[in-house]
Amino acid sequence: MSRPIAVIGGTGPAGTGIALRWARAGEAVIIGSRDAARAEQKAEEIRNRVGQNAQVSGMENSAACAAADLLMLTVPFEGQAALLKQLKPSIRTGSILIDATVPLAASVGGRASRTLGVWQGSAAQQSAELVPSGVSVVAAFHNLSADLLNGEGDLDCDVIVCSDNPDATLVAMELAAKIKGVRAIDGGKLENARIVEQITALLVSLNIRHKGHSGIRITGLPDRAYKTAAS
Ligand SMILES: NC(=O)c1ccc[n+]([C@@H]2O[C@H](COP(=O)([O-])OP(=O)(O)OC[C@H]3O[C@@H](n4cnc5c(N)ncnc54)[C@H](OP(=O)(O)O)[C@@H]3O)[C@@H](O)[C@H]2O)c1
Repeated sequence: MSRPIAVIGGTGPAGTGIALRWARAGEAVIIGSRDAARAEQKAEEIRNRVGQNAQVSGMENSAACAAADLLMLTVPFEGQAALLKQLKPSIRTGSILIDATVPLAASVGGRASRTLGVWQGSAAQQSAELVPSGVSVVAAFHNLSADLLNGEGDLDCDVIVCSDNPDATLVAMELAAKIKGVRAIDGGKLENARIVEQITALLVSLNIRHKGHSGIRITGLPDRAYKTAAS
């Protein structure tokens, strides 16, 4: 596996926040965008925040895919399928695609506190149908607040990682644990992404009701179930 990590849709709050945290952890990150200039501008913003050692560049999404074996997808649900179809020829065989897409009803003009039914079961399973064969899709990072990711403080949240490829799960867990305050938990098969995606709608609802930035913590598992920066 070769780095860097390409964050597709990395100009939005979720992708920028994750990229910022990985850049701080020393990862090389490519910000992907439909517009190369917008990607480079966002990369410069992150470099300015992280400091001179930051390895962050910006590229148009397909160029970013072609330059990386690790892809992080952070686009709205309404753009997910069309974008993956467009990017398919650029995605390298053997890549891992980590998908944080939540099928919020806001995508079709509904409420952000509700989700849409997805024919395949979840947004991540939809991705798995659209990527080239030999690419592993992992669902993760749905329950992290972009506001908090883009802030300065440590996170206080667990990241549940779902995939049908245990090696890909491990890679995503290690990347999640690089974000300070995050514990990564193997959430089992990709089909469990449906439940993890739904939790985000509940978190959105809680944020509106209580005016906060909610996340989740899973308790009661043995220590070995929690991947942290130290483990
Ligand atoms: N925000 C959160 O707190 C949060 C937390 C967890 C998960 N998520 C999920 O992560 C994803 C991204 O969230 P976000 O808040 O960062 O979203 P966003 O700001 O709406 O979109 C992210 C980026 O995606 C690109 N994009 C927008 N519409 C597109 C389309 N139709 N086709 C292709 N690209 C498009 C845009 O980049 P360019 O215009 O530069 O191409 C945009 O900057 C969503 O699925 C969301 O549900 C969000």
